[in-house]
Amino acid sequence: MNRTSCLRWFRACCCVAFIAWLSAGELRALDNGLAKIPPMGWNSWNKFACNVNEDLIKKMADALISTGMRDAGYKYVVIDDCWQVDRDIQGNIVPDSKRFPSGMKALADYIHAKGLKFGLYSDAGTLTCQKRPGSRGYEFQDARQYAAWGVDYLKYDWCSTSTQNQQASYSIMRDALVKSERPIVFSLCEWGSSKPWLWARDVGNLWRTTGDIQDCWDCKREWGGMGFVHILDLQDGLEAYAGPGHWNDPDMLEVGNGGMTTTEYRSHFSLWCILAAPLMAGNDIRGMSREIAEILTNKEVIAVDQDQQGLQGRRVWRERDVEVWAKQLADGSRAVALLNRGADESEITVKWTDIGYPENLPAFVRDLWARKNLGKRTGLFSAKVVSHGVVMVTIKP
Ligand code: GAL
Repeated sequence: MNRTSCLRWFRACCCVAFIAWLSAGELRALDNGLAKIPPMGWNSWNKFACNVNEDLIKKMADALISTGMRDAGYKYVVIDDCWQVDRDIQGNIVPDSKRFPSGMKALADYIHAKGLKFGLYSDAGTLTCQKRPGSRGYEFQDARQYAAWGVDYLKYDWCSTSTQNQQASYSIMRDALVKSERPIVFSLCEWGSSKPWLWARDVGNLWRTTGDIQDCWDCKREWGGMGFVHILDLQDGLEAYAGPGHWNDPDMLEVGNGGMTTTEYRSHFSLWCILAAPLMAGNDIRGMSREIAEILTNKEVIAVDQDQQGLQGRRVWRERDVEVWAKQLADGSRAVALLNRGADESEITVKWTDIGYPENLPAFVRDLWARKNLGKRTGLFSAKVVSHGVVMVTIKP
């Protein structure tokens, strides 16, 4: 080979390598254009665990509409663990035909016809947490199957993963979902074990930051489950990692499941909205009380969560049992939650200087739960907050 043809060969090889690098890069970053604001929907796990079937899921889809939840933003209907029982001889994942006799495609069609989106659950290991078949080794086949069924959202768990690496395992499913060519929100659920906020921005649309939420104010389970305030404390400091398309997920809502008071549920919901958390209702929405429905559908509070700018709020002040959380909104105003974790009523104050405003700036305060304008204030706003309660306001210069 002479020098010229050698050079030509060299150039051709560089070209091929460059194209290969480019197309690998295409799969490397998650850019599915989804979840530009925190996803909202309903998930079966918190209330029904393995007790899922197609009739129940259809009823939940119907109830999302009759309760006004769909119109308030709840869009994804997600079946968590236990819908799957086996693999067939070709390796295809097999849904439980007793519980889902019409199959997943028919269920997805039903949900889509209602203007909703359909979600499923799987696991990065060999088995799901309830010992159903996981996706390890079947990622591309499963993603193809989900796309064919019309899946719009995948929650992907972390049981039976032995020595697997989180980032590598979740990246395989990300690539498989991209290859499926259907836009599918990718929800990572490895319980914060490998600090996914440090790496998952390019892999998923949301990632769990903690163990499982429990339907209690401050309980702690030996296996890692925990109540509202413990989960809340673990979100402090993660705000820099969230933004449009990639969210910290402090786990699904327990609002309406019966383990907390209405006041406590209002606090749980308010703080999730300040955190720009995904809002996945986890209760039986067919028979909700008026108070619970009012919490889940308060449009002004939801608007804080769904703000276009996508900034996660943070704790700006704390003294003993009382604290102030604030979230900057796209129009420059602030949403503020005054939270009383103590046993007695307490007066809580937010100072303008704690939320990045000059002390002498006049601003309008609106109470989002009372739906009342409280007038113009300068420098600070104080309110009496009941035990385990919250006062949530917007402060707008
Ligand atoms: C857990 C997960 C829960 C639920 C459950 C199902 O690992 O954190 O949200 O999905 O598995 O088995």
